Amino acid sequence: MNSAPPAASGLASRLVNGILAIAPVADLLKHQARAMMVKRAESIGVQWTQEAETLRARGDATWQAALAQIQNPDLTYPDYYLQPFHAYKTGNLSWQAATEVEVAAYAAHARIWSDAGSKAGDARLRESFHVLLKQQIPTDPQTILDLGCSVGMSTFALQDTYPNARATGLDLSPYFLAIAQYRAQQTQRAVEWVHSAAEATPFADSSFDLVSTCLMCHELPQEATQAIFKEARRLLKPGGHLAIMDMNPNSEVFAKLPPYVFTLLKSTEPYLDEYFTLDMEQSMANAGFSKPFAAQNSPRHRTFIAIARP
Ligand SMILES: C[S@@+](CC[C@H](N)C(=O)[O-])C[C@H]1O[C@@H](n2cnc3c(N)ncnc32)[C@H](O)[C@@H]1O
Repeated sequence: MNSAPPAASGLASRLVNGILAIAPVADLLKHQARAMMVKRAESIGVQWTQEAETLRARGDATWQAALAQIQNPDLTYPDYYLQPFHAYKTGNLSWQAATEVEVAAYAAHARIWSDAGSKAGDARLRESFHVLLKQQIPTDPQTILDLGCSVGMSTFALQDTYPNARATGLDLSPYFLAIAQYRAQQTQRAVEWVHSAAEATPFADSSFDLVSTCLMCHELPQEATQAIFKEARRLLKPGGHLAIMDMNPNSEVFAKLPPYVFTLLKSTEPYLDEYFTLDMEQSMANAGFSKPFAAQNSPRHRTFIAIARP
């Protein structure tokens, strides 16, 4: 699969970037993007407001205690992470963002396949990735690290695919990790949650058989993605696998997106251009991986699976 990117540097894209550089316009667009997402979610049966409220109803004190327990007080956040994301002013570092992650994912993925239901689209997306993992990785991994695990949706799905493996979820948002931990308690799952940057993790060399990352690279500047690939190589046993699932910039869905919708999308994703223009295969090779297996796993997502070179 061609991982060289499409028209992220074209005239239309420059126009969009020019519009987004005007702060009040960008704020208005973010507001509209968020309103559109919530409305759309509710219209397809994802109870955005109610589900987020149910999580918040556990109470501030309970959530603050969970946060204190999971967060690493010595962690310094990379600057790029402190940008607004997804129309949240403080990006991924808030309870509002954390309590809305799951519903946002259900809504975003609901219509990837026209015949999937409101929550089934997300499940099917993850399954489409895991089918490729099962095909490409001959021996089931015993130790799995999910980088950018967020509230655990990708971690739990990996755990269901490899029930005998020890799963670790790592993320930079302690708010997201607090929700992940709560979900794990609710479903009696054993997962280790780690508050860290994916490019500088606390694990020893050769700790994992599989390092997986779902839907994270599009939130990263190119330098961070490259640093994370190098860290993944350090963490993998020789012959272990790095698996990446994210948006496919070459998909027709993005090419055909109405300019207004594309502008709204970009207003909430500050590093989309960097992701769309990064040569992922070359970046993996530079980090010490074999030429990756690459495939589309949904009409708008792609998967890379590469082996850690000895
Ligand atoms: C769109 S979410 C994807 C969540 C999840 N993997 C899934 O498939 O639903 C991207 C996640 O990556 C995390 N993230 C972004 N940059 C990171 C970094 N440098 N290190 C660790 N986590 C990071 C964000 O906090 C966020 O939770």
